[in-house]
Amino acid sequence: MTVFLSPGEAPGASSVQRCDACAHTLPALDPAPACPQCGGLLAIVHHAPRHADGSACDAAAVRALVAPQGVTGARGHASGVWRFAPLVMPDAGTAITSHPEGNTPLLLRDAVSAYAGCDGLLLKHEGYNPTGSFKDRGMTVGATQAVRTGARAVACASTGNTSASLAAYAAQAGIPGLVFVPAGKVALGKMAQTLAYGATTLLVHGDFDACLRLVQEASRELGIYLLNSINPWRVEGQKTIVFELLQQLDWTPPDFLVLPAGNLGNTAAFGKALREAHALGLIARLPRLVSVQAAGAAPFAAAFRDGFAERLRVQAETVATAIRIGDPASWDRAVRAIRETDGIVTSVTDDEIIDAKMTIDAAGVGCEAASAASVAGVRQLVQRGIIRPEHRVVAVLTGHVLKDPGMLVELHQGSGERGGHARANRPVEIDASVSSVARVLAERAALVARAEGA
Ligand code: F0G
Repeated sequence: MTVFLSPGEAPGASSVQRCDACAHTLPALDPAPACPQCGGLLAIVHHAPRHADGSACDAAAVRALVAPQGVTGARGHASGVWRFAPLVMPDAGTAITSHPEGNTPLLLRDAVSAYAGCDGLLLKHEGYNPTGSFKDRGMTVGATQAVRTGARAVACASTGNTSASLAAYAAQAGIPGLVFVPAGKVALGKMAQTLAYGATTLLVHGDFDACLRLVQEASRELGIYLLNSINPWRVEGQKTIVFELLQQLDWTPPDFLVLPAGNLGNTAAFGKALREAHALGLIARLPRLVSVQAAGAAPFAAAFRDGFAERLRVQAETVATAIRIGDPASWDRAVRAIRETDGIVTSVTDDEIIDAKMTIDAAGVGCEAASAASVAGVRQLVQRGIIRPEHRVVAVLTGHVLKDPGMLVELHQGSGERGGHARANRPVEIDASVSSVARVLAERAALVARAEGA
């Protein structure tokens, strides 16, 4: 199948929806959650960007079209998603529902590079988005589509970040939001956001996979617009993580692009973005995509080891609740993304995730646990000799450190299972006297001296 529509295809339309499985096409504004012919997942296919006279844009023209100076210029949107509208949703017009989002930094932190064993490791920090995770990039496009199609309500299943994002964008759009989350398994910050932004919140007795099955059924029967990452417009928005980081690198792709993986929506979106960027000539070669799962929730990593011979499902368990997913929805698309980029799928243990997180946190950057899987993955691949120290590597940090304050308190102050971590930064309670302050400083100095002597 072609990456873009051919010139004579779908006359008058900028984009269509096409079934991944049977190639049936639907108009861009059809709200069907899946292919009406075969039930397959729908994907958006655009016309490649054109000049006003109808002639095709070359790579330089496309780069100019999406250049950052356009952000506050002609289109007036200070958004790192809508800057890429011609490659995402060309016809959004006045329906755009934006906070705005994107424009996230690429950070270089020596302590994190040294930890991973990779000299110039760059961190694309998606925790800088308005609700603190990469989900806002897909959600601004999904919510805009909900406005365009006149949806009466929007819904999703979530491990917490998608629900926070949906709640914020539904509020912005003035459309009621409904979220399905696994009871007792959502990090405190995410739950707090979801409630604060006003979404109706259902605490489901079941895991994320059960929530996803339920929301699909409920949205089919109740006519609610589904905004999970199987929604093709969410995928379009999430592509902009890749477009933006390539732009930040002056369109010179890294050798490896590493991301945490759960439901595989982002892996699928990254594959689509790279395919399109390559087809447009924006990049001359593809980076190798690396998806990193938590060891207790790693069906995709297990299948990779077996050449993706079968689709696997597991009962998921991991400290990284964001990626506690056993039956990922975007499986086939993610397989394609890994195959096309000569990619790698691996898994890291909870201890490795926590260790990487504490390193990223202590560098003053911070991220939520699931995000640290990417850096833990880089460290593992360096140790396995697959990534060399001089390779150019971008690791995506998907969520903000404050998403999970409960875990931070436990790690640094707690006495429970994860309390008393060797690197815990325990707060010290003191009398209100300078002598107490001096005593604490002396104790800390002694600790540092002992650590340095060791
Ligand atoms: N990192 C974070 C912080 C996430 O919240 C998620 C997914 C992922 C990584 C994995 O991305 O699912 O596209 O492979 N969170 C979803 C949610 C499931 O409901 O917030 P994926």
